[in-house]
Amino acid sequence: MVRVQVPATTANLGPGLDCLGMALKLYNIIELEQKAAGISIEVIGEGAKEIARDERNIVYQAVCRLFKQINYPLKGLKIKLINHIPVTRGLGSSAAAIVGGLIGANALSGGKLSLKDILTLAANIEGHPDNVAPAIYGGILVSVPVDSEIKCLKISPPPGLRVIIGIPGYSLATKKSREVLPQQVSLQDAVFNLGRLALLVAALHQGDLSFLATAMEDRLHQPYRAPLVPGMKKVFAAARLAGARGVTLSGAGPAIAAFVDRNPEHIAQVMSETFRENGVPAKTMVLEPSLTGARALEVKP
Ligand code: HSE
Repeated sequence: MVRVQVPATTANLGPGLDCLGMALKLYNIIELEQKAAGISIEVIGEGAKEIARDERNIVYQAVCRLFKQINYPLKGLKIKLINHIPVTRGLGSSAAAIVGGLIGANALSGGKLSLKDILTLAANIEGHPDNVAPAIYGGILVSVPVDSEIKCLKISPPPGLRVIIGIPGYSLATKKSREVLPQQVSLQDAVFNLGRLALLVAALHQGDLSFLATAMEDRLHQPYRAPLVPGMKKVFAAARLAGARGVTLSGAGPAIAAFVDRNPEHIAQVMSETFRENGVPAKTMVLEPSLTGARALEVKP
């Protein structure tokens, strides 16, 4: 039996579409146990009603993928998921399922793959590395696919940083939120994002949050996604006015992430009120960055 803990993640951080993400102190627990035959899947907490309990289950598929890669025989599997990460809201729940399944399967089969191998496999399954990289390593990760591997570097989160997540009561599938993105963008918009992303990485590295208002601006995905997230621009503006340093869609949305270093409870309240004024019930969470990524808490033969 193996028990794995995996953090939630917020991806993009504004301009870093598909290449920047941060782990958050909100964790799912994934337990795997080999059995003689068949699959049994138990889900407790977030997603208990909608998560598949058969071969379509993401954790199960990740386990199969790793076992296949190392030619390890899979007879039967018992999976227990204790979920705290809201599902299909933009907090990396599918990345957590993939990473948890891979790390757990690797531990069950004798630890043949390195974390780097697991990152490559996870990014292939997810389609982009920006959630899976911080889910594996913790902290803030810059991650880029190069040929058949992922090059990544970690930045330590600035001390005192808190991330308020405003979570609307409806879900938004990443697929749907990617379908609205343009196939081509103007050089002007590309240059706009390049500058913001460079500024953001430098500001996070130096721990200077005063740049975030500008550095978290984006023209490559958020303007196209705004119609899918009612009240998005108003929540951004209200959070900024209440003192947030920078505000962004969390991943593909619909959750909104406000980066703050003071008055988190007040800013959280302003965000949920603004969502509500726009007809959207929402809850908020005040989270710290997670410095640790996924790890096996317990491994029994
Ligand atoms: N970078 C991805 C996106 C994150 O914005 O679509 C969602 O998983």
